[in-house]
Amino acid sequence: MTPFKRFHRLRKNDAMRRLLAETHLHKDQLVMPIFINEGLDSPQPIQSLPGISQQSPSSLIDEVGDMHRLGIQSVILFGIPNNKDAVGSNAHHPDGVVQNAIHAIKTTYPEMIVIADCCLCEYTDHGHCGIMSDMKLDNDSTLKRLSDIALSYADAGCDIIAPSGMMDGMVDTIRHALDRRGYLGVNIMSYAIKYASAFYGPFRDAAGSTDTFKGDRKHHQMNPPQIREALHEAAADIDEGADIIMIKPAMMYLDIIRQITDAYAVPTAAYQVSGEYAMLLHAEAAGIVPKDTAMLESLMAIRRSGADIIISYAVKALCDAGIL
Ligand code: PBG
Repeated sequence: MTPFKRFHRLRKNDAMRRLLAETHLHKDQLVMPIFINEGLDSPQPIQSLPGISQQSPSSLIDEVGDMHRLGIQSVILFGIPNNKDAVGSNAHHPDGVVQNAIHAIKTTYPEMIVIADCCLCEYTDHGHCGIMSDMKLDNDSTLKRLSDIALSYADAGCDIIAPSGMMDGMVDTIRHALDRRGYLGVNIMSYAIKYASAFYGPFRDAAGSTDTFKGDRKHHQMNPPQIREALHEAAADIDEGADIIMIKPAMMYLDIIRQITDAYAVPTAAYQVSGEYAMLLHAEAAGIVPKDTAMLESLMAIRRSGADIIISYAVKALCDAGIL
């Protein structure tokens, strides 16, 4: 009679479990978000995003210095400008909050990979991701604005432009604009598959767009029941020249990450969004899940679903605690 399978043999101690681990989580693959508020003199904790602060233009470099020492090599930047208006005119200003931040980081830490979120929602007084006309988002006039922003980021030395507004044709427009200006080496990480999710709440707070925001983003962000449409969105962005495809949120859409990574050979990023992160931190604070291990398990799940890169607000704290 054949002996029954003794799976326990493969799990008998830590070294054995590590020897056999099929999935790995390494800080090289992780990206830390940074919010920079032009109007601040010192860092300001973000109420709804536990453990995360908005940086001031002057505190930014120290913060990035800490990350650099911890071995974090990639950051994604979000700016909160002093002045907002209906068309987000400040967004592509050469002396704007994000442009200055990119320049400062690349000057002090040239080897750091700087990714810049490219969207209008942090710059418009209504908080929408584009130009509005008759209370509707005007996709095509928004595209020109996005390419202006992308070029100003590239001028400042940005490594990766990350268009996040889910405008149709955004990758095509930005790629052409970059190429025409000779920025052949600047990457595009497209938020190709971004669902109209309930988990972006704390981000809106962090980006200062909650007070004024009316309406929702269901007209341009994806509907949560969709699966095949995600494949179609990814195909379109790859076709338009996206170097990296992002899926967002991450934890609620692991099935989508798996399908995308099975279907396409391009690198994929997954964004553990503000609500997903905050939910876990609140569960930790309430003693429902153990500190750090639950967060690590969530990041491992995202890696296991196939994502190459993970953007998460937990990156710095986990590195700081020596866990990653
Ligand atoms: C900007 C943008 C958003 C997020 C990243 N870029 C907000 C949105 O789409 O509504 C959300 C990130 C998070 O919740 O952590 N368009």
